[in-house]
Amino acid sequence: MTISKKVKSALQDASWVRRMFEEGEELKRIHGEENVYDFSLGNPDIEPPLSLKKALKALADSPIVGMHRYMANSGYSETKRSIAKVLAEESGISFEEKHVVMTVGAAGGLNVVLKAILDEGEEVIVPSPYFMEFRFYIDNCGGTIRPVETNEDFSLNVNEIEKAIDQKTKAVLINSPNNPTGVVYSHETLGALGKMLERKSRELGKTLYLISDEAYKRIIYDGIALPIVFHYYPHTIRVTSHSKDLALAGERIGYIAISPNCDEGEDLIAASVFANRTLGFVNAPALMQRLVAPLQRDSVNVKEYEDRRDLFYNALRTFGYQIVKPQGAFYLFPKAPIEDDVAFIKELQAKRILVVPGRGFGKPGHFRIAYSVNKKTIEGALPGFREVAEKYGMLPS
Ligand SMILES: Cc1ncc(COP(=O)(O)O)c(C=O)c1O
Repeated sequence: MTISKKVKSALQDASWVRRMFEEGEELKRIHGEENVYDFSLGNPDIEPPLSLKKALKALADSPIVGMHRYMANSGYSETKRSIAKVLAEESGISFEEKHVVMTVGAAGGLNVVLKAILDEGEEVIVPSPYFMEFRFYIDNCGGTIRPVETNEDFSLNVNEIEKAIDQKTKAVLINSPNNPTGVVYSHETLGALGKMLERKSRELGKTLYLISDEAYKRIIYDGIALPIVFHYYPHTIRVTSHSKDLALAGERIGYIAISPNCDEGEDLIAASVFANRTLGFVNAPALMQRLVAPLQRDSVNVKEYEDRRDLFYNALRTFGYQIVKPQGAFYLFPKAPIEDDVAFIKELQAKRILVVPGRGFGKPGHFRIAYSVNKKTIEGALPGFREVAEKYGMLPS
């Protein structure tokens, strides 16, 4: 066989998100794009803020000598300093330039961190449901994913995480705001998680790391603030990007921030820079690093996503769907009225509505709706959602 057995098996087990996206393309070909309601892919549809476009134009008009050349593998000082400054202001912790490594999106950042910390066979605990790519990223770096169920409302079940921790455990990987549930982990939950990790690290005589995937950090609603993860546990690494907050998903710009309070922090930083280089990223895109440096407090208009959440969530609730109200990201993760989530999403597909079955996120019996689409698409799909709800006797009388 030409390709590796592992890759072959991963390909056969193709991602549900991709599968739905591809089926959607076929439906669009048959029925026309405007007649298919595609909620399969979390691709931000809002344009980047005007400030980015202006900075891009200014840079193109007055190029800096050497701006397309190689640089230090950790990225430009100017960008890291700007990020560290905001991190220090937000957290009150003394972040400096050296604690930041610029990466090729959050996906690149996660691979870098995992490569830096994992030895063959070590485990990473991931609360479930979870972003499926985590499985591959962990495997890329020789580790094993250990999914742990969350509570009914998708909040962290700290007791279950504790039970899963043993000598093989290297890290816990959380994601808040969460893909696929939209849940934001609370101050209390993170407090309990931090205390438990401190206790378990002491018991095991080794440092357990907390990796916090905050790819959706600014896509957050209802006036709530995202708790600062560094406050709850010293050995914390934040991985994030500007894919969602500045709508730059295709430009691949992100960073990792290693807490100054992290055990063996200097080694961890050196290992991350090494991994950034040797995984073949070399460095994060130069042009994007320059552009995002002054935009660390900017964001797309989050209200637009919040309005869509309200529209979709309220309508689906009226039709009888059971959903945990998301506080961030741009996903809804309702319960399917039957156990077989794939059978259920086929019903929606018959109404030309594309969603992803929960099993694509390790949680059968649910389905994910990505509402990073325009309002018209949401409004167009509502009658279909209602008809399916009626068929399954979900409509409140
Ligand atoms: C939870 C989560 N983490 C990471 C990523 C990767 O983001 P990036 O585009 O920054 O690589 C995504 C992308 O959808 C995501 O949903």
